[in-house]
Amino acid sequence: MPKENRNKNATQLPEVKSEKQKRTYQDLLKGNRNWVKAETEKDPSFFDKLAAGQEPDVLWIGCSDSRVPANEVTNTRPGQVFVHRNIANVCLHSDMNILSVLDYAVNVLKVKHVIVSGHYGCGGVAAALSNQQFGLIDNWLRHIKDVYRLHSHELDRITDHQSKLNRLVELNVVEQVYNLCKTTIVQNAWRERDDLELHGWVIDLKTGLVKDLKVTTKSTENVGKVFKLDESKLK
Ligand code: CO
Repeated sequence: MPKENRNKNATQLPEVKSEKQKRTYQDLLKGNRNWVKAETEKDPSFFDKLAAGQEPDVLWIGCSDSRVPANEVTNTRPGQVFVHRNIANVCLHSDMNILSVLDYAVNVLKVKHVIVSGHYGCGGVAAALSNQQFGLIDNWLRHIKDVYRLHSHELDRITDHQSKLNRLVELNVVEQVYNLCKTTIVQNAWRERDDLELHGWVIDLKTGLVKDLKVTTKSTENVGKVFKLDESKLK
């Protein structure tokens, strides 16, 4: 391809499909400029402080759902909450993404609280409760079907679909907190310090309020014997 054509292609913008699409994108950039302006007016050194580093005390593991942003829900500011989100707030010991976030938060940032935060009306949990196929995501949601299996005695007895779904949302959070307890990252941290707590929450989208599921834990007390690991000999 001649040089001038390559350059032409490189600067060509993708075709804008509709006015609405164009507006949405431009609104994001405008929103960013407005945010910078508002923060700077409140505190001229705000961005200097942000750029200097972070010392969050909290790791938030939440759902990717656009309605449950960590900072807004907890009324916290940039720099206060380290965040990981995925569909239906699943905490898997074979997921390099969440393990990397957890390891960094616990061992480098030394966060004091890890909060698994689910929400009622979670589409991921609803999909897992159904028998429909949704595509690739079915493999991710299979883990929530396993949560159902673990608690089928309780869940099978709930006849109202909405109540069953709400309870599965709660039980999913509880099991994900226990999944975190089973990781070497958390168990080794508990050996070294006593100020790391795990918590389970559910957000009610209709009120915005958080329900603390009272599964706060700072030891392997509630974890089955087979998951309790001896101190590593690989040091
Ligand atoms: Co969700």
